[in-house]
Amino acid sequence: MKFAVMGTGIVGTTMAGKLVTLGHQVAMGSRRADHPGALAWAAATGEQAGVGTFADAAGFGEIVVNATNGGATLEVLAAAGRANLSGKLLIDIANPLDFSKGFPPTLSILNSDSLGERIQAAYPDARVVKTLNTMSAPVMVQPSLVPGHHNAFVSGNDPAARTEVVNLLASFGWPEDDIIQLGDITTARGAEMYLPLWLRLFGVTGTPHFNIKVAWG
Ligand SMILES: NC(=O)c1ccc[n+]([C@@H]2O[C@H](COP(=O)([O-])OP(=O)(O)OC[C@H]3O[C@@H](n4cnc5c(N)ncnc54)[C@H](OP(=O)(O)O)[C@@H]3O)[C@@H](O)[C@H]2O)c1
Repeated sequence: MKFAVMGTGIVGTTMAGKLVTLGHQVAMGSRRADHPGALAWAAATGEQAGVGTFADAAGFGEIVVNATNGGATLEVLAAAGRANLSGKLLIDIANPLDFSKGFPPTLSILNSDSLGERIQAAYPDARVVKTLNTMSAPVMVQPSLVPGHHNAFVSGNDPAARTEVVNLLASFGWPEDDIIQLGDITTARGAEMYLPLWLRLFGVTGTPHFNIKVAWG
């Protein structure tokens, strides 16, 4: 498949690298077509990797992955262009974190709304699925970094789009039983509002290689 990975940070490069390893073609999007980090990634990765503006990448991808700063995501998607997102699966990994008052960050969207919902509302033709935002980038694509069973969450209005994402996560190594489909895109609220706890758990564990395990009886 052809993927657009919007974002040149640790999430974007980790996701893009994994997708190429799995045989996909990836265009990494950035504000500038000559982003040094993206160019270096593409040069080191080979012919399955490309680099461009957010619009270039979104135009290339059959599936679009949003791995951009949550405060800039809507601006990024506007730059990507509505026509380049229409009808596509849009996998949203971003968190609406606001670091403007230092650490810990606050959430810029919360309670009765979420970034996932804002994206879906702005692009009703796109099939938005929120996932993987509740863990660090290495764990997203290598769940075995955390011992035992632990969970990934999937939120989106379109059940077929959610299934596509479940299948993609399975290709990353996620056992299907460990992937919890929460429901429609409003369920992204809880996944995003977990971030304040994630940040504190990071402080306690001292490692990004941890995750939630949901147990029930
Ligand atoms: N770090 C993690 O392990 C982790 C885990 C879970 C979820 N997340 C979420 O995943 C997303 C990506 O995180 P990250 O740490 O990889 O990178 P990041 O630093 O949060 O975001 C980097 C990307 O955002 C773009 N960006 C930043 N400010 C922008 C602006 N004002 N206008 C347009 N684009 C802007 C950058 O564009 P350029 O390429 O042009 O610089 C870059 O591509 C975030 O929403 C984060 O909360 C991160």
